[in-house]
Amino acid sequence: MKMANLLVISFMLCLGMLSTTIYNVKLIACASSNGVPTRLYDFKVQTKRVTKLCNTKDIVTINGKFPGPVVYAQEDDRIIVKVTNKTPFNITIHWHGIRQQLSCWYDGPSYITQCPIQSGQSFTYNFTVAKQKGTFFWHAHVSWLRGTVYGAMVVYPKANVHYPFKNPYQEHIILLGEYWIKDLQEIEHSTLASGGAPPRADAFTINGHPGPNYNCSTNDVYQLDVVPRKTYLLRLINAGLNTENFFAIANHKLTIVEADAEYTKPFTTDTVMLGPGQTLNVLVTADQPVGKYSMAVAPYKSGRIVHYQNVSAIACLNYLGAASNSLYLPAKLPKLDDKLAVKTVMDGLRSLNQMDVFKEIDKNLFITIGLNVQKCHSKTPKKNCQAMNNGVLAASMNNISFVNPNISILEAYYKNKKGSYTEDFPDRPSKFYNFVNGAPNNIPHDTQSLNGTRTKVLEYGSKVQLIFQDTGTVNIENHPMHFHGHSFYVVGYGTGNYNPQTAKFNLVDPPYMSTIGVPVGGWAAIRFVANNPGVWYMHCHIDIHQSWGLGMVFIVYNGKGESESLPSPPADLPQC
Ligand code: C2O
Repeated sequence: MKMANLLVISFMLCLGMLSTTIYNVKLIACASSNGVPTRLYDFKVQTKRVTKLCNTKDIVTINGKFPGPVVYAQEDDRIIVKVTNKTPFNITIHWHGIRQQLSCWYDGPSYITQCPIQSGQSFTYNFTVAKQKGTFFWHAHVSWLRGTVYGAMVVYPKANVHYPFKNPYQEHIILLGEYWIKDLQEIEHSTLASGGAPPRADAFTINGHPGPNYNCSTNDVYQLDVVPRKTYLLRLINAGLNTENFFAIANHKLTIVEADAEYTKPFTTDTVMLGPGQTLNVLVTADQPVGKYSMAVAPYKSGRIVHYQNVSAIACLNYLGAASNSLYLPAKLPKLDDKLAVKTVMDGLRSLNQMDVFKEIDKNLFITIGLNVQKCHSKTPKKNCQAMNNGVLAASMNNISFVNPNISILEAYYKNKKGSYTEDFPDRPSKFYNFVNGAPNNIPHDTQSLNGTRTKVLEYGSKVQLIFQDTGTVNIENHPMHFHGHSFYVVGYGTGNYNPQTAKFNLVDPPYMSTIGVPVGGWAAIRFVANNPGVWYMHCHIDIHQSWGLGMVFIVYNGKGESESLPSPPADLPQC
């Protein structure tokens, strides 16, 4: 095809994009380089004064929007986002769920793939959404700024490629969040300094709105207008910081058709659970009598001793023609600790098509995940050691609490600078014991972890199986484990200790995901091919757990030739 034709086509694609059902579009331009349509965005990191729950404060936002602008693209497009930092705080942006094939430099986690963008500086992210489509989101990946710096990312199928289900009448984005009245960075700082647990959020939010249940929020409600009998695609994203959430709509069924931006076999349910970092596309048909129905968000209380905000966020599903003063029909949500509701949805997640899961494994990893309590080393224990028995809360993988280095690991690795990290993350825990019920709990004497910036090196192309095992030290809990730079097959999961003799694996149609909620007091088995050279963070997407050290890093070596090697760093890569 001639170049001119290609340009015309990509221009038409751009027009097509703009006429698609949109929410809060922020597409600045649509260019084309070598026939690859390119989406250009301008992100100004700036503070904005907002009033919520009758309190006014400054929050960090992108372009003064909360939630932030939506990034739209089509499969295989290039996305270029210039991020300029107009706040006094350090920032980075991560494109959650995008595999960043050969573009590790633009992945975004601070001190892993880049130094933060400092006040007054800018950095241009530049990557393609190669062979990916669906619902993603972007968020700050430094400190707890993610609490307000987040937005959706929607990647449509290519032109003339249809969804594997009947085209919905409209599509809408539903972003779940958490909101604090106090300054988030102060909360983060004081929580970590206290050694204890964080305060619970003051409200959950739906597209930034808490809904009528909280103090002073009657009119701060997200409303979705629907036409009777039409079917809608809702793109659900949990962008919350620290809480896993149930979501349900009064009297309406949800049919899951996509999880973590991969199609699934349609599965119909009354309620879904999303941990922070998880996305689900659901179809909802407006098949009920004309009226107003609540869409509700409540916590999934998987950890018994954690304090959660128990009041639900409510949005309104409003049928056109409903009387404006009609009350919202309340949604039925599962009990706060309903593990069965969570398992039911997990059991329902199957890849749409048969998957080509490898059977021969090159690298077997067994990694415990959980909490720890460290001994107090502070001279002011009342102030700094507020965990149980005057300890300090921590979290770990294979009992190692990840400590951020003060330069980027990717840069250190690329430039062969030694000293900021080690390559000795262990393949298995140092001791095997009854992880769930026999975990050490003589706090803080036998509940310590080791601190370290440890990485695990993988040869290019290695086929990896990884078992996550939740431990019972302090508390068993569901942990949403997220992996950068790769998707993985969730081949198995269960409660209790992982037992290779009895574990049942699905190698036929397992879901292909990038975040897996490891069952409370249980295990999950994932498989992935390490085919993306670079430095990739794996961590719990509950921010307080990440801050406490529930993370580790994989270094995937280069393979052969340019198509299997990490490119050189961009010229504007921020310096620490
Ligand atoms: Cu959505 Cu490392 O994060």
